[in-house]
Amino acid sequence: MAYYQPHPAAGRHFLQIPGPTNVPDRVLRAMDNPTMDHRGPDFGELGAKILANLRAVFQTAGHVVVYPASGTGAWEAALVNTLSPGDSVLMCRTGWFASLWQEMAERLQLKPRFIETDWRRGADVAAIGEALSQDRAHAIKAVCVVHNETSTGCTSRIDEVRAAIDAAGHPALLLVDTISSLGSIDYRHDAWGVDVTVAGSQKGLMLPPGLSFNAVSEKALKAAEAATLPRSYWDWRPMLAANATGFFPYTPATNLLYGLDTAVSMLSEEGLTNVFARHDRLAEATRRAVRAWGLEIQCLDARHYSSSLTAVRLPDGHDADALRAMILEKSNMSLGNGLGILKGRVFRIGHLGDFGPLQLIGTLGGVEMGLRQAGVPHKAGGVQAAIDYLAGNA
Ligand SMILES: Cc1ncc(COP(=O)(O)O)c(C=O)c1O
Repeated sequence: MAYYQPHPAAGRHFLQIPGPTNVPDRVLRAMDNPTMDHRGPDFGELGAKILANLRAVFQTAGHVVVYPASGTGAWEAALVNTLSPGDSVLMCRTGWFASLWQEMAERLQLKPRFIETDWRRGADVAAIGEALSQDRAHAIKAVCVVHNETSTGCTSRIDEVRAAIDAAGHPALLLVDTISSLGSIDYRHDAWGVDVTVAGSQKGLMLPPGLSFNAVSEKALKAAEAATLPRSYWDWRPMLAANATGFFPYTPATNLLYGLDTAVSMLSEEGLTNVFARHDRLAEATRRAVRAWGLEIQCLDARHYSSSLTAVRLPDGHDADALRAMILEKSNMSLGNGLGILKGRVFRIGHLGDFGPLQLIGTLGGVEMGLRQAGVPHKAGGVQAAIDYLAGNA
């Protein structure tokens, strides 16, 4: 049962929102160790080890900054370290989280230009290329893209965004939010020429909420020297200076770092390629279940299907929040809600993090029962379709 559940239910709670995700026992055990002196010599050794090992997860040889903050803090850090008041930034409104990042940019006195989508696909790469080609004065200082839009289950093609920036010969920085993709979906900070990667602890990294990250390119570090947005807590410079010996300029989230050390080891033991393949396979099984139910997947472009979550649309006249409430009450499972314009229209199945085929079958079983209990029109057989695929019979 969950830690705080006033109406106890038997059996383990299924936390199938698209993050925070289920924390593996091994990570929980690591965090359940005495907090240590964050200015003592042992800490420097641990900090240096974690900071070095973390690079592989971002597929970078460069610096990764760790903040004791949620993902929103790392969004802010990416902007305030690289930009100046009044700078234009090109942002792609792929969904709820892209919209929140854009609102933050406005509050920080940046000037976002938007590229809209219908929230049913990833970023419009052709429109990004077009906007950059037209910007001959190079007023746009950064292109901001959410890699995996957690509100819609659409994954943008960052390799193609990079190619569009290069084809336009534009010097803008590329800032990418990987909060719900890092450690779940293939992501290459260096190979895709990303300048700042924003990430969070609570999804593919299998940790509780509370840590967030900026992976930083040399170009971003140079931009940070000229940037004039006010920054203090988020400033990379004192952080990187302290990190050089494995320390932090302020009190780090020590026990979350124990967990991070373990989670990064687990990803490396499984092998990142296998981690991505596992997520791809479970996502495909989920989509087969959804199609068998006769329901619609929110993402319309198969090239943009997300391997970390699937957003499922309900038929008109049926409320996804009522379905989720029914599933929570009857089956003790939490599913993700619809956000912004998708409120009540979709529910989201998280299939990321510490997650395997049996958890998926349980999750899909809970959804299929819930559809029936809530009287949502559907066909039976979604769970069977997933089993057929996972068992290799599809
Ligand atoms: C893609 C994306 N970006 C940003 C955020 C905001 O992160 P946080 O809630 O950790 O501040 C989230 C949270 O779910 C997210 O999924």
